[in-house]
Amino acid sequence: MKYNAIKGVQDILPPDVYAWQRVESAAAEIFGAFGFQELRAPVMEFTEVFVRSIGETSDIVEKEMYTFEDKGGRSISLRPEGTAPVVRSYVQNHLYNRPAPQKFYYTGPMFRYERPQRGRQRQFYQIGAEAFADAGPAIDAEVISMLRHFLVRIGLESLSFEINSIGCPECRPAYRDALKNFLSDRIESFCPDCKRRLDSNPLRILDCKVPGCKEMRRGAPLVSDHLCEGCSSHFEELKSLLGDLGVPFSVNPEMVRGLDYYTKTTFEVTSENLGAQNAVAAGGRYDGLVEEFGGPKTPAIGFAIGMERLVALIGDGSDKTPTPFLFITALGDEAARKALKIADGLRASGLWTETGAPGSSMRSQMKRADKLGAAYALFLGQDELDSGTAGWKKLDDGTEGKVNLGDVHDLFMKLGSGR
Ligand code: HAM
Repeated sequence: MKYNAIKGVQDILPPDVYAWQRVESAAAEIFGAFGFQELRAPVMEFTEVFVRSIGETSDIVEKEMYTFEDKGGRSISLRPEGTAPVVRSYVQNHLYNRPAPQKFYYTGPMFRYERPQRGRQRQFYQIGAEAFADAGPAIDAEVISMLRHFLVRIGLESLSFEINSIGCPECRPAYRDALKNFLSDRIESFCPDCKRRLDSNPLRILDCKVPGCKEMRRGAPLVSDHLCEGCSSHFEELKSLLGDLGVPFSVNPEMVRGLDYYTKTTFEVTSENLGAQNAVAAGGRYDGLVEEFGGPKTPAIGFAIGMERLVALIGDGSDKTPTPFLFITALGDEAARKALKIADGLRASGLWTETGAPGSSMRSQMKRADKLGAAYALFLGQDELDSGTAGWKKLDDGTEGKVNLGDVHDLFMKLGSGR
């Protein structure tokens, strides 16, 4: 029986995985420098965690969650995103008692039952960051700038940053009414989802991807024209701070995000080189969510980066594929035993060492050393065992030398120390 992976789910193989590792370590480094600490939340939660945060009428909750009943009859969902689990953890573990602001990042798989296509998987990975307990626009600027520094660090300098403000519970009701008024007149021409959402959540209609709906909502009132004084000055200050920090951005007043928890600042980073699924990262403020989850009133902001899309932009990492440092060829059983012992010691000290297949010719052992890209070769045979010295060679420039068998470990540890 031959099995294939589930549709929309993929293996990450070497050498691609080296690009993933590079991205993850750059994130740990840059985010660490901004004071973000790693938080590992589980991949499954009670379904309610996502319904209450992302929103009952969002596409994610209505159509895309992997939800099942466990053996105890509880409704469980695989996480479609990372913010709700981090907020759940923040409240459950009383992380608000730690000095403010509390800043966390995470990496890991997310699950959404979407139609798979280039840049869209059913299991995909995000690197996300969330900052709690700071209401001011400075932290918004800090978080967006951190995202930019990370992207620049991995070689992505020319991505577009778009920002918007989608208001707060103070200004949202008036905007909702204005939007509903506009949409009500023409709702018959919208798709069934939009019709259904007119009363429950008209903002979601602005996010509908159906071409006819996009056309019909042209000219709809913009949330940016309905911001209250607080949201408006927050947004103005954010723009000014982003200018100070040298983050190139544009304001996209039509950007509404697909998750219900956002308030005030929202942002997206897109690339021209990704086709239809062009959002590399996205995020925003969610000032009401901690309270919604039973915690104290706590403003928060964060973002998540789509790893597959990021890696598609930076290449497969084949240039970063690690190679063995030493390849020991061995002719004869006794030499093979010695090779195994030397290799074992070097490996225990962290130096990647390979040995030739016992019984195969010198030529085929060296062919394998070349194929693996080994930096050095050491040659062991009966003569070397008898004399107690062996020859070695640096394979890129042909430099050669001799070494006492008792000194092999130290020699290669020394040669490999700069690696
Ligand atoms: P999101 O916009 O749903 O936001 O996802 C963030 C990023 O994840 C997207 O920009 C995209 O790069 C990637 N992504 C989403 N769905 C898929 C998919 N099916 N296949 C591949 N990549 C995908 C969130 O998830 C929020 N939790 C972000 C956030 C954090 N907001 C505040 N804090």
